[in-house]
Amino acid sequence: MTEEAGTRRTPLRSRAWFDNPDNPDMTALYVERYLNFGLSLEELQSGKPIIGIAQTGSDLSPCNRHHLELAKRVREGIRDAGGIAIEFPTHPIQETGKRPTAGLDRNLAYLSLVETLYGYPIDGVVLTIGCDKTTPACLMAAATVNIPAIALSVGPMLNGWFKGERTGSGTIVWKAREMLAAGEIDYKGFIQLVASSAPSTGWCNTMGTATTMNAMAEALGMSLPGSAAIPAPYRDRAECAYRTGLQIVEMTLADRKPSDVLTREAFLNAIRVNSAIGGSTNAPIHLNAIARHIGVELTLEDWESYGADVPLLVNLQPAGKYLGEDFYRAGGVPAVMGELYRAGLLHNDALTVNGRTIGENIGTAEIEDGDVIRPLATPLRPAAGLTVLSGNLFDNAVMKLSVISDEFRARYLSNPDDPGAFEGTAFVFDGPEDYHHRIDDPSLGIDENSILIMRGAGPVGYPGGAEVVNMRPPVALIQAGVHALPCLGDGRQSGTSGSPSILNAAPEAAVGGGLALVRTGDRIRIDLNTRSANMLVSDEELAQRRAALGIDYVPESQTPWQEIHRGLVGQFDGGAVFESAVKYQRIAQSKGLPRDSH
Ligand code: FES
Ligand code: MG
Repeated sequence: MTEEAGTRRTPLRSRAWFDNPDNPDMTALYVERYLNFGLSLEELQSGKPIIGIAQTGSDLSPCNRHHLELAKRVREGIRDAGGIAIEFPTHPIQETGKRPTAGLDRNLAYLSLVETLYGYPIDGVVLTIGCDKTTPACLMAAATVNIPAIALSVGPMLNGWFKGERTGSGTIVWKAREMLAAGEIDYKGFIQLVASSAPSTGWCNTMGTATTMNAMAEALGMSLPGSAAIPAPYRDRAECAYRTGLQIVEMTLADRKPSDVLTREAFLNAIRVNSAIGGSTNAPIHLNAIARHIGVELTLEDWESYGADVPLLVNLQPAGKYLGEDFYRAGGVPAVMGELYRAGLLHNDALTVNGRTIGENIGTAEIEDGDVIRPLATPLRPAAGLTVLSGNLFDNAVMKLSVISDEFRARYLSNPDDPGAFEGTAFVFDGPEDYHHRIDDPSLGIDENSILIMRGAGPVGYPGGAEVVNMRPPVALIQAGVHALPCLGDGRQSGTSGSPSILNAAPEAAVGGGLALVRTGDRIRIDLNTRSANMLVSDEELAQRRAALGIDYVPESQTPWQEIHRGLVGQFDGGAVFESAVKYQRIAQSKGLPRDSH
């Protein structure tokens, strides 16, 4: 083999394809096809690292489509640093367009990326992240394969505006549907209002799952410092793409791998950042999934212990008022981490992709606009993390404390005799179709003492776990001034939703969780002090209901993948990963190379 470039001690894995004199037949076979579009033999046998660009953008994935442009700058960075770029597509995952839910495709994209990274001559990889599930799918795969990897965000869209007011992705939908229900706008006005929130290329400009997960990638140390918040169309974004290309070559030569970066300390940092930014309730699902694939112990209890007390600093919709451009201008993730760092809330020694620690990267990062990012001393809300509830309805479910509105708090959590707790009457929906058909039927008698329950919406039931737990109240209640009812369920909800739902319940109804037993009319008690959620039904009665259950909440699968997914997927608290995939860890090291193709 030719001499290795750089300082790397372990051989580059691409040499086994492109330059292996011990196996001339196979080397010839591998090399010839990569020559056919113009790569030269000198390049392929130069000893330079082959750097994959995992391309998540396409016309089907508008949120990530700008990566098609950014990849050109990534290639230039790779080339300038002495690497050879090979770009390849990944399975598309677009959050709003994919039915029945993009949640179904995260593990599919993960599996396919694992096969690609492991089975082809790739020494290091740039993960082009953005839309909600693209980020975890890429990071999960990089964790399993464990070759040098760096994430490049595509960046948020520019701020949306309508009649002088900011309109934020997703969040405007939840507001517009209330306005439509109340007769304040018509169908055309509804579409116009929602479309105003998407003025440019990029991902959702609110603090939804995309902003959250791109910030998580940076907080974990898997992308360049300061990179998550740069809006997609800004010139800084293309420059960041170039620097990412430079960095991955350095990382590959230094053999700096995901396992060096994705330590427990890195995950705990990310949990704290998630609270401070008011991150999505999808974050624990995805971070727990990444942790399981890299082999780091992380539980929902860690989210409660490390995250619940951290105050909300970032004033972005849905919890606050600003959008992505404002967040970037105010300093982005480094400014938030700077506040946490000075308060001693971070593990400063956690290594990041650039070979420096989180503490070194943050340095003196300061807030540039104290209304968009609040200082720790004057936060938007105290104790803004997720709380984890349990009881006879489920073993665990999460609730996002940062989005509890004053109206909700006054109505449900401020009873002087029972502060922080409330009771209500269950109204159960079996799936979102059932909810949509019935919610506005006045004969149901749903009132402000009702608790809406959604079941059949989990990883197995839906399948993939649908974002349907945030249910708007009946029109008549909205017109009477009740804008949110307590909601609870085994599905997820959009990170752009400001609903304080109790969600991600595990185990879900479809696998026989407590939610399968609840009936309309049952009394439900939620107590945030004891972190409990229970149906006030005797154990004898519950045992009888379980014996009589016999209801199958799992609808028939519509595609082969739906059936395969249902057979393999675990519950939300374990990251909804394929349990049988977890044992395959760091396979580039633990499994060596795959066998030859011929
Ligand atoms: Fe793709 Fe929000 S729908 S980022
Ligand atoms: Mg969503």
